[in-house]
Amino acid sequence: MLTQAIEKDGTSWLGLAGRVCVVTGAGSGIGAETARQLAVAGARVAVIDRNGDAAALVAAEINRAGGRAIAIEADVSQSQAIVAAAEQVQKDLGACEVLINNAALVGYAGPLLTVDTVQWNQGLAVNLTGALVCAQVFTAQMIAAGNGGTIVNVASICGHLPLPHGGAYSVSKSGLMMLTRMLALELAEHRIRCNSVSPGYVRTPATAAAYSEAVIAEGRRRMIPSGRIGEPEDLANVIMFAASDRAAYLNGEDILVDGGVHHALLAIIPKQASPMPSTGR
Ligand SMILES: NC(=O)c1ccc[n+]([C@@H]2O[C@H](COP(=O)([O-])OP(=O)(O)OC[C@H]3O[C@@H](n4cnc5c(N)ncnc54)[C@H](O)[C@@H]3O)[C@@H](O)[C@H]2O)c1
Repeated sequence: MLTQAIEKDGTSWLGLAGRVCVVTGAGSGIGAETARQLAVAGARVAVIDRNGDAAALVAAEINRAGGRAIAIEADVSQSQAIVAAAEQVQKDLGACEVLINNAALVGYAGPLLTVDTVQWNQGLAVNLTGALVCAQVFTAQMIAAGNGGTIVNVASICGHLPLPHGGAYSVSKSGLMMLTRMLALELAEHRIRCNSVSPGYVRTPATAAAYSEAVIAEGRRRMIPSGRIGEPEDLANVIMFAASDRAAYLNGEDILVDGGVHHALLAIIPKQASPMPSTGR
């Protein structure tokens, strides 16, 4: 729900006003909130999603609030659809200056020994190859305009830590982080930066079913040092920072936004009741 006023004067700290920003998977969850917050910062936003109705709702919400957004129905695993989407962005908003590769297939595919390779390939096609194709197509516009640009890939804590029985998901997100670093090196000569942001546990439509079970919601909450499940806005804020000129010297990096949960391993390893005085362990 967009409640903040749209920035009109271009003086905010992030300096994203007027920028042409493309967000994939922006019909829901983290992508939708990122599109909304970019619009609040005064950016012109292309809301891309394979679910055209969801994209249209987000774009309409932004336009109703006085922002500027267009909705495009496109599947990032279909190269021709992304080429057509890029043409529409150029025509309606101008050359892309910020690309947020957020669309992903999230789902469990069972143990690796029996994983269905059609599902496996589909996971990689969306989460990894889709991000590459979007980078190819939209950086062409950045390079032609000659003003540099920036890409933020939405990876995952599961790219840092293996998610058992998660099929291609962890592999795709780990690959996305390497793609991020390679793009950062290869695009540097065009003054295009590329970073990734890795969400931890975030409440979105993709994960809503898990949080509807109180035992899971409360169990996860207790494991997270920040004391709560993440919200889409927590991620949108960091994604926007990484996309902004405020992060001009951030390049090829991953920012893990998880309330500190990946640091919490030693807190759950069984240990003696009373610490040993000499070592504190
Ligand atoms: N929610 C979490 O806890 C969490 C944790 C780690 C990483 N992530 C990552 O954050 C990103 C957003 O996840 P979310 O939780 O907001 O999910 P979500 O399901 O709420 O939103 C994802 C959107 O992407 C769209 N989409 C899926 N496949 C697409 C495709 N091939 N082409 C175009 N659009 C497509 C969907 O239609 C949907 O609107 C994903 O990259 C996900 O892997 C989420």
